[in-house]
Amino acid sequence: MGIRIKGSGRYVPEKILTNDDLERMVDTSDEWIVSRTGIRERHLAAEGETTSDMAAKAAQKALENAGITADALDLILVSTVTPDHIFPSTAALVQRKIGAPKCPCFDQEAACSGLLYAFNTAYGLMASPLGYKRVLVIGAEKMSSLVDWTDRSTCVLFGDAAAAFVLENDGNPETKDFYVAGEIGADGEWADILCVPAGGSACPASHRSVDEKLHFLKMGGPKTFHMAVLAMTNACRAVLAKSGVSKDDIAWAVPHQANRRIIDAVAERLDMHDKVYLNVDRYGNTSSASIGICLDELNQSGRLKQGDLVLAASFGAGLTWASMLIRW
Ligand code: ACO
Repeated sequence: MGIRIKGSGRYVPEKILTNDDLERMVDTSDEWIVSRTGIRERHLAAEGETTSDMAAKAAQKALENAGITADALDLILVSTVTPDHIFPSTAALVQRKIGAPKCPCFDQEAACSGLLYAFNTAYGLMASPLGYKRVLVIGAEKMSSLVDWTDRSTCVLFGDAAAAFVLENDGNPETKDFYVAGEIGADGEWADILCVPAGGSACPASHRSVDEKLHFLKMGGPKTFHMAVLAMTNACRAVLAKSGVSKDDIAWAVPHQANRRIIDAVAERLDMHDKVYLNVDRYGNTSSASIGICLDELNQSGRLKQGDLVLAASFGAGLTWASMLIRW
């Protein structure tokens, strides 16, 4: 069909919160955080800086990298669990901020699996009779807005960032699609182990919801850890089997950057340690943005060449999981 990733971009806020900083905020230590998670620092949005601000900055860079302007876009899709508002969509705010035309805009929510879900959605819509030619796909998160900064079991894990991609259908049947194979899934039986209890229709904002800190992220850490290893390993195996591609032919394995130990456990099961890209030490878990930041770092540093195969994998609240074999 000729659908390619034409450009990528990222935005990471300037402010850095180190493990030393966290030691002064809660009862934790650099040693605990590094040994249990691999995280050394994370970036936090500035006061007043929103998810759509970060998304728009990443989008501008992706457009530049693709060599097109915003007026060429047919669709904007934002993956986020930290939208600026419940409505309007963050995608609509990005449209306004980057000066895109009145193209369709919507948000997609699959937590940390969101970017890979969004790639699937965008590809499906581009290949459908709707026939969109240029689509902006963004993963953007202000996780710091969901974190209880007095809860040491979660506040050490997350960071803020955005990554954006321009997908283009050049209409040339000779061009190989970026989408080689994919697997997405969810198991709602585990919906409660990772959630933000209040702020939705189940528990609208009230004095009680604020007093009981129900607007913050809650997580069953060890259970999430166990499910993450299982789901990412199985999803990667399914994608490799569907595509018929040998893991030896893969240039990079790009896992969701939630925890170094989860990544190591999956890499060991797949025997792919030498291919794994890691940056969790610098950003922590940026949810929807995480895989996008990795891909853009690889792209901008010249470590991804056209035609390279990348195996990406993720998991997140829902529980959701996703794996995708991408041809760069
Ligand atoms: N500093 C010091 N001690 C801590 C900290 C901390 N920051 N956090 C927890 N502890 C303590 C606990 O209180 C516990 O103490 P206890 O034994 O006295 O009760 C001890 O450390 C062990 O706690 P565990 O939770 O069992 O630690 P574990 O080794 O499982 O690591 C972690 C916790 C890092 C959260 C791990 O379970 C994990 O990474 N889980 C997956 C999280 C994840 O990836 N979530 C991503 C999804 S996000 C999304 O989808 C939006």
